[in-house]
Amino acid sequence: MSHISKIVEMKNLKNMNWIFSEKRFVSLAPFLVFVLVIVAFFTLPDQFTLRAFNSLSGEQYINGTYMRDDGERLTEPVKETKREDRQQTTWQEVNEIVQKHNSSEINHSNEYNGTDNSHGTDFFYLLIVNLLGINLCITNVSQITDTVEGSPKNVIEQTPPKPICDNSNWRYEACDITGDARTFGIFSTVFYVPPPQTINPAAQNWTFGPQSRRAVQAKNVTVKSLFSSLESPPCSIKNNMPAIVFALGCLTGNLWHDFSDVLIPLFINSRAFDGEVQFLITDMHTWFLQKYHLVFKKLSRYEIINFDMDSEVRCYPRVMVGLQSHKDLGIDPKRTPNGYNLFDFKMFIRDAFSLPPAFDIPFKLNTNPKRKPRVMLVLRNRSRRFMNGPEIVQAVQNSGFEVLPVEPTRDMNITEFSRVVDSCDVLMGAHGAALTNIMFLRTNALMIQIVPYGKMERDADNFYSKPAAEMKLRHLEYSISAEETTLLEKYGWGNPVISDPESIHKQGWKAGMRYYWIEQDIKLNLTRFAPVLVKAQQLLRE
Ligand SMILES: *[C@@H]1O[C@H](CO)[C@@H](O)[C@H](O)[C@H]1NC(C)=O
Ligand SMILES: *[C@@H]1O[C@H](CO)[C@@H](O)[C@H](O)[C@H]1NC(C)=O
Ligand SMILES: *[C@@H]1O[C@H](CO)[C@@H](O)[C@H](O)[C@H]1NC(C)=O
Ligand SMILES: *[C@@H]1O[C@H](CO)[C@@H](O)[C@H](O)[C@H]1NC(C)=O
Ligand SMILES: *[C@@H]1O[C@H](CO)[C@@H](O)[C@H](O)[C@H]1NC(C)=O
Ligand SMILES: *[C@@H]1O[C@H](CO)[C@@H](O)[C@H](O)[C@H]1NC(C)=O
Ligand SMILES: *[C@@H]1O[C@H](CO)[C@@H](O)[C@H](O)[C@H]1NC(C)=O
Ligand SMILES: *[C@@H]1O[C@H](CO)[C@@H](O)[C@H](O)[C@H]1NC(C)=O
Ligand SMILES: *[C@@H]1O[C@H](CO)[C@@H](O)[C@H](O)[C@H]1NC(C)=O
Ligand SMILES: *[C@@H]1O[C@H](CO)[C@@H](O)[C@H](O)[C@H]1NC(C)=O
Repeated sequence: MSHISKIVEMKNLKNMNWIFSEKRFVSLAPFLVFVLVIVAFFTLPDQFTLRAFNSLSGEQYINGTYMRDDGERLTEPVKETKREDRQQTTWQEVNEIVQKHNSSEINHSNEYNGTDNSHGTDFFYLLIVNLLGINLCITNVSQITDTVEGSPKNVIEQTPPKPICDNSNWRYEACDITGDARTFGIFSTVFYVPPPQTINPAAQNWTFGPQSRRAVQAKNVTVKSLFSSLESPPCSIKNNMPAIVFALGCLTGNLWHDFSDVLIPLFINSRAFDGEVQFLITDMHTWFLQKYHLVFKKLSRYEIINFDMDSEVRCYPRVMVGLQSHKDLGIDPKRTPNGYNLFDFKMFIRDAFSLPPAFDIPFKLNTNPKRKPRVMLVLRNRSRRFMNGPEIVQAVQNSGFEVLPVEPTRDMNITEFSRVVDSCDVLMGAHGAALTNIMFLRTNALMIQIVPYGKMERDADNFYSKPAAEMKLRHLEYSISAEETTLLEKYGWGNPVISDPESIHKQGWKAGMRYYWIEQDIKLNLTRFAPVLVKAQQLLRE
């Protein structure tokens, strides 16, 4: 709560426009140019020194090599990464989410009770950036005169210790600035500032969307590795902790993407700091912060900054821009600071939501001999819907389970819902985002994934079964037959949609998505499915 209420918002954008009005300062410009040239010529101010900060936990992570996920993906060209976006979120769903949150986002008044942080930055900095189109900046005119009177100093060349940005990974693009890093949110810019009295021959700009998935179009942030400290904006706030700048836009809103694209990458990038890290967020969706505020609170002890609205120049010993990510809903322990894996993440999430320790499933812990294992049955409402829901409930009950049918919505209180999931021994449902709730199951619990028609086994495996295994859960998959999909009625045996799904996939991700992810509903054949329930009972009793 405190986190969210403190979210910073700059209220007076109109004032900024006023500052940007060029006419107002045209007469000043030649004077400032003259003064700045003089300053640059004679002296390099020594004013922005920051405390040395070399021994951060998480350092070795940065040192790590960035390998690609697996041989198969490696051969895919970057544009192909879009393929993976189709499986979980239909664009229709994304649009619905956007629409739903549109009105509440426009109306900030009832969401952030922010402080006005427009005061800290000096008019002159904004003026100079705007009028001259460069990054030179001086706090105020009296400071300029001070430095002009100083004596000239020797200047040495010094390249940053390591490349600041890494765009070699097909999955994400990310930068890591150590030394003197400064964020300037309203300009969507993060600076690397070379030490005073040095010049950086490797000056460079990078522009990219700081999301964990290159394929999506997040709002761009520019990282500038400056030539000299003279070009840097002066700090309005100095910090000793590191910071991470990242985007919350794009595919968030679908539980799978919330975890796979934001929460897991954020954990990978920030957990090693043990709360000593600040988050600056672009495309900030308040609903997301509210929904997962317990997770944010556990990852960072500091105020969350709305980067797009932030007119402060915040200085840090280290700023990471973008989120490094490893795989879909997963973690590669070899590339995390303390060897964290997905099970550690799950335990972290359970802890954040104050769930009991995950030693074993409720069914095993219960001493009542009459207690049946409990199945949470996810009924999807739009696509990949069960046409015979009531019969499925009946069949599962008849196999000796207690059934809890649920239709999770995006606005559900996840803190409360996680408790319900935790109380279950089995989570059963069609391949889809709601299965991400396996995150809240206890060790040894079981996921039953109904794999829709159309050669979706590989995705079923990558997106849910592999993560389930890594989280120490059991899993069963049931691939439906052509007779069990509504696509058969619609297209018939002769249509490639039924007879040759591979040929549909070869037409590109949009075609596969249209038929198998969006158009398809499921009529489970309970005779054919029965052995899965028998196997489930066995597994739970092992
Ligand atoms: C960092 O990389 C260097 C050179 O590759 C290596 O010698 C060193 O052990 C690495 N440090 C860590 C903490 O992995
Ligand atoms: C948000 O809502 C406004 C008006 O309510 C509408 O004009 C705009 O297109 C919507 N934006 C999106 C992304 O749906
Ligand atoms: C925004 O929310 C506040 C508080 O809920 C309400 O009073 C105000 O009318 C809303 N403004 C708009 C434009 O919807
Ligand atoms: C914001 O917080 C202040 C003090 O904490 C309170 O007086 C004010 O009513 C709050 N405003 C809104 C819109 O919630
Ligand atoms: C300008 O800089 C001088 C010297 O650094 C300082 O004393 C003064 O307070 C500053 N003025 C403003 C308006 O920040
Ligand atoms: C970085 O971008 C600025 C404009 O924003 C430009 O003036 C500058 O030359 C660029 N620097 C490099 C090294 O490309
Ligand atoms: C972000 O920057 C890239 C590279 O400069 C550009 O191609 C892309 O269109 C930009 N995206 C947005 C949303 O502005
Ligand atoms: C989906 O849920 C909504 C709201 O609960 C309901 O109005 C609608 O009829 C449902 N659609 C289907 C196909 O079940
Ligand atoms: C969710 O439920 C918990 C526990 O009942 C409550 O403390 C919390 O405020 C709720 N969160 C939201 C966003 O309503
Ligand atoms: C259901 O599956 C059983 C066993 O595979 C099969 O014999 C039966 O024909 C199927 N029923 C329908 C309606 O397809």
